[in-house]
Amino acid sequence: MRIALGSDHAGAELRLEIAAMLEEAGHDVDDLGCEPQQRVDYPKYAAAVAGAVVAGGADRGVLVCGTGIGMSIAANKVVGIRAALVHDVTTARLSSAHNNANILCLGARVLGPTVARECVQAWLETPFEERHQLRLDQIAAME
Ligand code: RB5
Repeated sequence: MRIALGSDHAGAELRLEIAAMLEEAGHDVDDLGCEPQQRVDYPKYAAAVAGAVVAGGADRGVLVCGTGIGMSIAANKVVGIRAALVHDVTTARLSSAHNNANILCLGARVLGPTVARECVQAWLETPFEERHQLRLDQIAAME
């Protein structure tokens, strides 16, 4: 799978860990920043990753900031994005099964790296359940 990654300064370390994990698992990773040690504003990176996903350059995206909240708010402004902020393996799994989330948002200041990695893995491995498509169509109609 082609996966675009982005973070602000608060999420940079976790983003690099996730990039390494995904590459090791054989995914094609497009790391869109930020640069290490650079203090940045998260909307720019949310826009870059969301743009890559809606343009088809990436199948999915992962965004990391301090809480994941800012990234999820920003990414969900982009038409076609279903960005899910998750806090554990259960919400990560259900964000795929029920919401077909095409971007996963994580909070580096609220999640340990092991749980974060498990969230990414659960989200990628869980298939969408088609019975929820009607709700996603209703969301798309609001865009
Ligand atoms: C940056 O200090 C912090 O506000 C950001 O990483 C994120 O948590 C915003 O939602």
